[in-house]
Amino acid sequence: MDRILEVENLKKYYQRIKGFSRKVIGTVKAVDSLSFSINKKETLALVGESGCGKTTIGRCIVRAVEPTDGKMSFFDSAGEKKDLLSLDFEQLKLIRRDIRMIFQDPFASLNPRMTLMNIIGEPLKIHRITKSSAELKDRVAELLKMVHLDPDYMNRYPHAFSGGQRQRIAIARALALEPSLVIADEPVSALDVSVQAQILNLMKELQEKTNLAYLFIAHNLAVVRYQSDRIAVMYVGKIVELSDKNQIFNRPQHPYTETLLLASPNPNPHERHDKLHQVKGDIPDPANRPTGCAFHPRCSYAQEKCKHETPHLIDVSDEKTEPHLVACHYWDELNLLTKLPTRHPEA
Ligand SMILES: Nc1ncnc2c1ncn2[C@@H]1O[C@H](COP(=O)(O)OP(=O)(O)OP(=O)(O)O)[C@@H](O)[C@H]1O
Ligand SMILES: [Mg+2]
Repeated sequence: MDRILEVENLKKYYQRIKGFSRKVIGTVKAVDSLSFSINKKETLALVGESGCGKTTIGRCIVRAVEPTDGKMSFFDSAGEKKDLLSLDFEQLKLIRRDIRMIFQDPFASLNPRMTLMNIIGEPLKIHRITKSSAELKDRVAELLKMVHLDPDYMNRYPHAFSGGQRQRIAIARALALEPSLVIADEPVSALDVSVQAQILNLMKELQEKTNLAYLFIAHNLAVVRYQSDRIAVMYVGKIVELSDKNQIFNRPQHPYTETLLLASPNPNPHERHDKLHQVKGDIPDPANRPTGCAFHPRCSYAQEKCKHETPHLIDVSDEKTEPHLVACHYWDELNLLTKLPTRHPEA
């Protein structure tokens, strides 16, 4: 499989500082020794509760924040492996054409004082892609058509548009430089449910047209169900399970994944249950990660060992299937999701 990105043992720690004395009172391990890769043209979803480090990973990849440690490699269009952490200014500028980000809130991410022409045309100007203003206008019109907006809108301002339309504008801007990897950080969670599916479909359609890969960040498994090829489930700065989406939905091996599945709404009305399960207990503070398996205080299967020994990610698949990575001491003794066996049929 052709890789586009490899992340190895990525760490991002923040110092927690108090008051005027700026005394360091703790270390937030926002991302802690985390490894994964993304293949060309695929969608890898990163799923987990608030504060588990999803956005921090995206920001490390685009070098908006400096990782504390680790290695990140990007494979450019010529297939050449680039070490993302040792790029000089010019190389970083070039890589930023290939890796773009879409944010959660299209109301905040678009400059209200710029017309669509300027919003979408700005990256084309910065990177000197278009040679004349006529060419720039043509390209912006083409991008607006790609996201199913009328090119006649190009002289309007973002306030004239709805949330869904603004997210289309943000997508057009992200795609202006024909990236090969787009990091979409909760791209639909600020939108009305009725609009979410349209944006998700658009993202899929554009992926098929332009062959890009997505790192798709979401809180909730239901959103990434139709969108992703593989899913990485995160818990307090670490990946606890990573596999093909059908494996995650039908044969989850980590108790936290099971909990997320039971807590996410089932789109099939015949299998809908009146009460959604809640993920019990509070999300731990990443500056004060529980010992052993960080999920143990909330896990209904936890045993003594889970309090003291940190489980590592291991591949539990048989050789015929795709890798299925799980970090749980007791994955092979648990029979997860037997309570609702038909709840998540093949997506
Ligand atoms: N600049 C910063 N300084 C200190 N701590 C930070 C900083 N940025 C993020 N954090 C902390 O790092 C942890 C991970 O944050 P991050 O925003 O990556 O989580 P997330 O999974 O994207 O959450 P959400 O789903 O709410 O967007 C959180 O505990 C957050 O408070
Ligand atoms: Mg976030």
